[in-house]
Amino acid sequence: MEKTLSIIKPDGVKKNVIGEVIKRFEANDIKIAAMKMVHLTRTQAEGFYAVHKERPFFKSLTEFMSSGPIVVMVLKGNDVIAKNRKLMGATNFKEAEEGTIRKDFATDIEKNVVHGSDAPETAAFEIGYFFNSFEITG
Ligand code: CMP
Repeated sequence: MEKTLSIIKPDGVKKNVIGEVIKRFEANDIKIAAMKMVHLTRTQAEGFYAVHKERPFFKSLTEFMSSGPIVVMVLKGNDVIAKNRKLMGATNFKEAEEGTIRKDFATDIEKNVVHGSDAPETAAFEIGYFFNSFEITG
């Protein structure tokens, strides 16, 4: 059983689509193994996105990600990393397929509602960034 980290970003929380996003996971047979709401500091957001620190959007991204509460979840299921990425749609909502979370709710390449790990190694780092082993069920 594979695991991945999902984040409902500050724009998703503000738009009141937490339930809508979770509904899509559940409808696609994805199980939630851990979940909490947190408000990151700027430093915590920088640590999470450290891989992007040389990118021109790093400052704006970390400012946005620390601008309000987020919902972080560990998702589990067969092939859940790819499955979650398919449900999210492309990073740029303008390129996202119809019916994906970003196509339906994103307004901006940065304010794109959700984050999902892109590979097993990043999933391990990202899950460990937010949760300890006692907080993850199953
Ligand atoms: P996410 O999947 O969380 O990974 C990095 C984030 O950087 C991305 O979603 C967007 O929120 C943000 N971002 C802003 N500008 C860009 C860009 N030009 N390309 C990729 N990601 C961007």
